Amino acid sequence: MDTTLTVNNLQTQFAIRAGLVKAVDDVSFSVKRGEIMGLVGESGSGKSMTGYSIMGLVDAPGKIVAGEILLQGQDLRSLPPEAMRKIRGNRIAMIFQDPMMTLNPVLRIDTQMMEAVRAHQDVSRMVAREMSREALVRVGIPAPDERLQAYPHQFSGGMRQRVAIAIALLNQPDLIICDEPTTALDVTIQGQILYEMQKLCRESGTALIWITHDLSVVAGLADTVSVMYAGRIVESGTVQQVLEHPRHPYTHGLIASAPSRNPRGQPLQQIPGMTPSLLNLPEGCAFRTRCAHATVECRQTPQLREVEQRMLRCYHPLRDSLAEAVS
Ligand SMILES: Nc1ncnc2c1ncn2[C@@H]1O[C@H](COP(=O)(O)OP(=O)(O)OP(=O)(O)O)[C@@H](O)[C@H]1O
Ligand SMILES: [Mg+2]
Repeated sequence: MDTTLTVNNLQTQFAIRAGLVKAVDDVSFSVKRGEIMGLVGESGSGKSMTGYSIMGLVDAPGKIVAGEILLQGQDLRSLPPEAMRKIRGNRIAMIFQDPMMTLNPVLRIDTQMMEAVRAHQDVSRMVAREMSREALVRVGIPAPDERLQAYPHQFSGGMRQRVAIAIALLNQPDLIICDEPTTALDVTIQGQILYEMQKLCRESGTALIWITHDLSVVAGLADTVSVMYAGRIVESGTVQQVLEHPRHPYTHGLIASAPSRNPRGQPLQQIPGMTPSLLNLPEGCAFRTRCAHATVECRQTPQLREVEQRMLRCYHPLRDSLAEAVS
């Protein structure tokens, strides 16, 4: 099957005393074998919660209330917790911003890696150790035999993140979700990790979801991109279509406000207004109070529909001349 993951109309909510937080609100997308999807949006837009929902890691008071999560056609939401535990770390893996979410500080790297292999594969300790060594080599860790015997605190931040990635790779998952794993790293290490992840997907057919704030990372790494705003996907499509010819005013604002695109010495552009609280969203299109193109129509919720080779949730798509006026 060509499609690794399909998410249909996913809704994840937090019922808290202050009200109902719709952290993920009607999110749909799919990722093919070997494909890399960038998931972008401002802080609080629901990127991590989308990842946790797919992994089955949403804890109370959070709850998935609707939607389908299909891994190679199998609905993960219908699985009992034990079956889901078997899939996690085996067919799907997540790499977190903080590698210590994956690593155990009191265990040697070889112990942790061999356990991760043997939890899902019936192999000897020797084979598990060799697989662990190979995974460290794949993520560019020098002297892997020595490193296997070390503890997490003996590694630098970048090396620790590489180990966490190596652990995610151990069982050759069909899908890896990376939640901003390189934002805390310096740019050369970030570049190496991005290069290795892209190579891995191309070679092994692993599908990858890369969560980030950084549009330049998406531009260099991903095939497709989904842009989230206030829990919803507002625009998604190929990186070329969406980043070079954005049609949603929010996508356009994000691109225009990226510092790397700013002509030297010119003031940075900004999206006017503030990100609204999820507890107090404008009705209809959540972006309308910040949008120069909003009309009364935008008080209704626009549906995700196909517009010019991408999916778009907007009543007033930008024309290209508009979109390019700032580039
Ligand atoms: N335990 C919780 N209780 C209530 N609301 C929560 C909880 N966890 C997350 N949320 C809400 O879910 C929304 C989405 O959070 P999420 O972590 O997915 O954002 P994000 O896009 O990953 O942001 P960032 O870029 O900062 O990582 C947030 O606005 C937050 O208010
Ligand atoms: Mg996050």
